[in-house]
Amino acid sequence: MEKNIDPCIIIIFGATGDLTNRKLLPALYKLEFESLLHKESKIIAFARKSKDNEQFRKESLKAIKNFSKFKVNNEVWKRLSNKIVYHQSEFQDIKGYNKLKNLIKKICSKSSGKCNRIFYLAAPPSFFEVIINNLKKSGLAISEKSWSRVVFEKPFGHDLKSAKKLNKAIKKAFKENEIYRIDHYLGKELVQNLLVLRFANSIFDPIWNKKYIDHVQITVAEDLGVETRGNYYDKSGALKDIIQNHMMQLIVLTAMEPPVSLDADDVREEKVKVLRSIRAFTLKEVSKIAVRGQYGSGTINNKRVKAYREEDKIEKNSNTETFAALKLNIDNWRWLNVPFYLRTGKRLKERVAEINIVFKQNPGILFNEHVKNIEPNMLIVRIQPEEGISLQFSAKIPGKKMIVDNVRMDFCHECKFGPNTPDAYERLLYDVMIGDQTLFTSWDMVEHSWKIVDKISKAWKNGKVTSYNAGSWGPKEADVLIEKDKRKWYKPQKSIYSTLLQNSTTQ
Ligand code: BG6
Repeated sequence: MEKNIDPCIIIIFGATGDLTNRKLLPALYKLEFESLLHKESKIIAFARKSKDNEQFRKESLKAIKNFSKFKVNNEVWKRLSNKIVYHQSEFQDIKGYNKLKNLIKKICSKSSGKCNRIFYLAAPPSFFEVIINNLKKSGLAISEKSWSRVVFEKPFGHDLKSAKKLNKAIKKAFKENEIYRIDHYLGKELVQNLLVLRFANSIFDPIWNKKYIDHVQITVAEDLGVETRGNYYDKSGALKDIIQNHMMQLIVLTAMEPPVSLDADDVREEKVKVLRSIRAFTLKEVSKIAVRGQYGSGTINNKRVKAYREEDKIEKNSNTETFAALKLNIDNWRWLNVPFYLRTGKRLKERVAEINIVFKQNPGILFNEHVKNIEPNMLIVRIQPEEGISLQFSAKIPGKKMIVDNVRMDFCHECKFGPNTPDAYERLLYDVMIGDQTLFTSWDMVEHSWKIVDKISKAWKNGKVTSYNAGSWGPKEADVLIEKDKRKWYKPQKSIYSTLLQNSTTQ
């Protein structure tokens, strides 16, 4: 990452929450470590709990030690902790914002005159509107001779109607080029690599279409359960939590046309065209293209885990889905009749996110009799946990007989670039500081993905969610969804470097 960044004041709303501890503080620490926070920059922690600077700094250090991939260096921490100021206020209390304004003025008067600010809303979404209204009322949103940016965590609304309402309130206070809607999947290295893979390599471009590709499957699987987020998750479910945002981004990056340039507007324009081309479906058709499930108890990594309905803060008769699978078609020139199958869920067999581009099979005239479990050619983009790209093709097994099997060529990201690639939040925070919106979601994207998700959600209002065993790959209906098209889900495989990497981290 480059190093010419403006000084700025980052105001984090919800600074004592889970997101700040797990993601933002470790990301800020790493940015400080890389000298990517300007020496005049400050971080104002805005939260409801009463505490002083020292106490908050102490808790921040603990969070960084807990959640950062790196060992804390005292010098770096000292520099970062000097930048942190705690500001206690209720989100609804306008007096707190007026005091914040004075605090910002004071900080700015000591610096080189620049008073750039980033308002980071890491607060519960139910407070988004009230925070925005108070930023406007107090005059904090407007800054003379400096820039002002606002960052939203997901979920951006809980359906199209609420998203529109929220967007309207934001637009009264901020312009679109000041609004940064986070989708942390866009900050992941291998997700950013998708455009490079497709448009910087001449070998993939000619075959990236309906003529050569049979279908695409995208998996975002987690072995974790709902953890401490029952309150939020039970009202959301897998469809709104993952498909509406992260998986829609993965579809569009896989399917979009090359943009005119890499400028945010050009990239976003092409992305939204994909969502607009997704084949419309009726409420009745939802049962043919969408499947849901909820985890029961089971075993993961040799540990017994409880059922979703037994988890903390979950309704005993909850009908919320913790698994969703979809089949979508993109009715445009490139993708006509190439289905995109998506699946995501909690408490699945393992944590893995990957995109499989499955190519059409050749006529098979020559080697039909010599085949051992032959699979189609596949390009697999491994987003996590083991980042990389694999190309699967057929090869002869050594020996006198002609037997053909599947083999893979693997690109292992960590082997080539080392383990210290920037975390998604580090990259995204940096982009907000330099004013690059490319990796953030535009309003058009939000609007179109809610349109698709709302329809499914409406169809799912009635009827019961089916159960699947924790530690499995989801309900059997998900298999039926793809098998009725004479296709199957491909099990994620480790790359040949996997053991190598494991050994190097345990040594
Ligand atoms: C979040 C969801 O957006 O993404 C969580 O709200 C989910 O439910 C998380 O666990 C997954 O992110 P990652 O980066 O671990 O794949």
